[in-house]
Amino acid sequence: MLDVTRIKADFPILGREVHGKRLVYLDSASSSQKPSAVLDAMDRVYRNSYANVHRGVYTIAEEATSAFEAARARVARFIGATAPEEIVFVRNATEAINLVAYSWARKNLSEGDAIVLTEMEHHANIVPWHILAAERGVELRWVRLTPDYRLDVAELERLVDGARLLAVSAMSNVLGTINDVRPLADAAHAAGAHVLVDACQSVPHLPTDVRAWDADFVAMSSHKMLGPTGIGALWARRELLEAMPPFLGGGEMIRDVRLDGFTPNEVPWKFEAGTPAIAEAVGWHAAIDYLDGLGMDAVREHEKTVTAYALRALEERFEGRLHLYGPLDPEVRGGAVSFLFDGIHAHDISQVLDEDAVCVRAGHHCAKPLMRTLGVPATTRASFYVYNDESDADALVDSLVRAEKFFAL
Ligand code: ALA
Repeated sequence: MLDVTRIKADFPILGREVHGKRLVYLDSASSSQKPSAVLDAMDRVYRNSYANVHRGVYTIAEEATSAFEAARARVARFIGATAPEEIVFVRNATEAINLVAYSWARKNLSEGDAIVLTEMEHHANIVPWHILAAERGVELRWVRLTPDYRLDVAELERLVDGARLLAVSAMSNVLGTINDVRPLADAAHAAGAHVLVDACQSVPHLPTDVRAWDADFVAMSSHKMLGPTGIGALWARRELLEAMPPFLGGGEMIRDVRLDGFTPNEVPWKFEAGTPAIAEAVGWHAAIDYLDGLGMDAVREHEKTVTAYALRALEERFEGRLHLYGPLDPEVRGGAVSFLFDGIHAHDISQVLDEDAVCVRAGHHCAKPLMRTLGVPATTRASFYVYNDESDADALVDSLVRAEKFFAL
């Protein structure tokens, strides 16, 4: 089990107070907090060995380059990639998905082709495909939800029939639902479709093996897994990356530029135009070391326990008045817990919670199609991570008791 008291002490921000109260951070599905190990690693880069990468031949430039490339290798190892070259550094999971949409999909898809998405996708895994659909006449098909907030796979075979891509989240940012990627990928591959996994909610919380998933593309962000903002990765099978045209043009992504054209660099640098996020890559490396130090199996077990505790406490305390959106079985879900009180708007709840220094997200969570399916404009979402324990769930419940009373007046 995780020693959460010790873990909390590693996160300087968790030592502060808001409105005179202990900060209870329950918004990690939006963005996670950063341990000192990450802050220190980035500080060391800027203080000791900051220079641009892949350009200078002086000592600190070589140090920066080797730290940057070591981060790539670390990300690769963390997710079970075969080689560091399969990792393309991007700004975030959103950019990773756009890279696939602009490069792979525009090269390979044309009018009449189909892409299969699910109703629980984040806008990042919907809007790039809407843009492509409008531009190319590509059809979008949707996997629906079951009443218990899982993917309705009964229709999957029909939906992937003749499709070119299945793009699916490994874990819903709203419902917490964990999707079993492998059978989905098997069904898509059997139909001749490629598979893109939006893993930005799952990589921070579950052991990840992209080869066991048998995915073709996997998108993730550093900032949801204790690392800095501004960096994420696209993992893709090497032969796919090699066949894909460049996405952004500029420095570093070329081997040669002439007046009559250019020759692209090798993968993954072919997709990394311009100066990248250097200190952020080093910070992400430190975040992965931190998570691996805890052990991803232990992270998963801890989150199951805390999520089960929170779900139980919410159900018992607010029986019949609070609606939970997501599976109730902790085995099939992560720590993003969405809920709504009868007759009280999600935003109003989160404002009252803020007075108790309880940070939750309220709104559509960048998943408006899912909100429409649920028949609600918004939910309040508390999301748990390695630095949360039962005391945070208790603080949430206590604050909700106060909010409910406030709005009952
Ligand atoms: N995708 C992030 C969330 O769910 C921002 O809050």
